[in-house]
Amino acid sequence: MLDWSEPKATPALHPGLPATALPAADATGLGVIDRGGQRVSVDDKAMINARADVNQLLPLKYRWAWEKYLSGCNNHWMPTEVSMQADIALWKSKDGLTEDERRAIKRNLGFFAASESLVANNIVLAIYRHLTNPECRQYLLRQAFEEAVHTHTFQYIVESLGLDEGELFNMYREVPSITDKAAWALKHTQSLDDPDFKTGTPAADQAFLRDLVAFYVVFEGMWFYTGFAQILSLGRRNKMVGIAEQYQYILRDESIHLNFGIDVINQIKAENPHLWTKAFQDEIRQMLRDGAEIEAAYGRDTMPRGFLGLNAGLCEQYMHFIANRRCAQLGLAPVFAETDNPFPWMSEAMDLKKEKNFFETRVIEYQNGGALSWE
Ligand SMILES: [Fe+2]
Ligand SMILES: [Fe+2]
Repeated sequence: MLDWSEPKATPALHPGLPATALPAADATGLGVIDRGGQRVSVDDKAMINARADVNQLLPLKYRWAWEKYLSGCNNHWMPTEVSMQADIALWKSKDGLTEDERRAIKRNLGFFAASESLVANNIVLAIYRHLTNPECRQYLLRQAFEEAVHTHTFQYIVESLGLDEGELFNMYREVPSITDKAAWALKHTQSLDDPDFKTGTPAADQAFLRDLVAFYVVFEGMWFYTGFAQILSLGRRNKMVGIAEQYQYILRDESIHLNFGIDVINQIKAENPHLWTKAFQDEIRQMLRDGAEIEAAYGRDTMPRGFLGLNAGLCEQYMHFIANRRCAQLGLAPVFAETDNPFPWMSEAMDLKKEKNFFETRVIEYQNGGALSWE
């Protein structure tokens, strides 16, 4: 006869010892099944180097990761639901856009087109394997799909506007100011790319943290934000409103990606305080400073003269503001002198409920879940 009674609560595998002090279990979840293994206890779960079976979502330990997964699902959207008619008419008109605006738009699209794939590859091929927690992995799977939707957006824009796909998708290899950004981030994922790379030593765990900072904080949390500001600033002037609307949806997704990354880093810090040395904190602050400087160079390249409401100087100021904010989120001292946000409208642009008539286009109320807290 089957026994439907509740299983007895299982004690932690090694009570009294922190999960990360124990030898790590099978990090992939694809190893030989431990037939007689004890049931998973919350105390055995850990962000990295966990002993708990990674194939068991429940019991949940990190509710913040699960909630971000639910928020991502509630925000579902597809680029093809946004009308491109106004953008096509403007792009094909002779006088609707200045040469400077066209250059900035093309470089912006070129930067994002390949970057979405770089971020996706980093999640799937570097981060996923080493983040040994099922609820975080559940979010990574959702994020990976969202990055696919974002890449789809650039395919749809290229097709709609009749852009040169080779020019756009090769910009990350052919335009030095874009190559510099991709190359800087790739250094950090390449260090995890060695098939023998394993977390579990302070040096390897710090290499993993560097990758998280490079991709979540600098790439998605700093560089993407100036990219959004460029296009949304045009959208505010009623230019390229279809792309601007798509960027609003991407921005909403990315702000959760960023906040997930910050939570992951802070949780790893809390569980492994020995990694967060003064020297390592200085190194992370230097990464954010470098990221801001690389972005300032990109701003000068994409907007040599600037245009209404936007120029390289304002983008650099915005990067300093954002870099300091990211430092605060990671519990680090600021890297730049205190500065005002030159684009205060960016935080409003994230809230689609408030901005229904922002671009005077058809805005679909995709958000069907509970309120999200934007940082
Ligand atoms: Fe993305
Ligand atoms: Fe992202």
